[in-house]
Amino acid sequence: MSTTRTPGALHPLLLLVALTASAAALVACSPSSPSYSRDVQPILAKHCYECHAPGKPGTEASGFDMTSYQGLMKGGKFGALIKPGDAFTSALNMLVEGRADPKIRMPHGKEKMSDGDVEILKVWVNEGAKDN
Ligand code: HEC
Repeated sequence: MSTTRTPGALHPLLLLVALTASAAALVACSPSSPSYSRDVQPILAKHCYECHAPGKPGTEASGFDMTSYQGLMKGGKFGALIKPGDAFTSALNMLVEGRADPKIRMPHGKEKMSDGDVEILKVWVNEGAKDN
């Protein structure tokens, strides 16, 4: 009987290992602190600027010009579309995540953005939508 361990002695350790592993996985999945100039602006340039720049259809229809940080934060003719710190209630995030009517998903009538790009926009807004 000398090799038999009492289950009670082993379990807390196993649990600790499991928790540490899942915490590490969570950290690995979410991009750490995206920056506006390095991460966010290139995504918007690729997917949105063709319509949301001065004189383009998205800006003409909604007043939303995303080509500058100031324009992005100002929003459209109905007001702000980004609520710093709260991607869940930000209209921009709702649209790109497909949480609004599918007819007005952005980018409008185009292939949807990658999950990674959508996630970067979400983390950036949740961290305060800073001009960083
Ligand atoms: C092919 C053109 C096109 C592209 C690309 C596009 N949009 Fe739009 N967007 C529009 C149009 C047009 C509107 C006006 C509302 C409508 O007609 O659905 C609009 C409206 C919006 C609105 C709502 C503005 C308001 O005040 O209600 C948001 C937010 C938005 N777009 C975000 C984006 C984002 C973010 C991207 C890039 C991921 C993007 N759009 C790409 C054409 C486009």
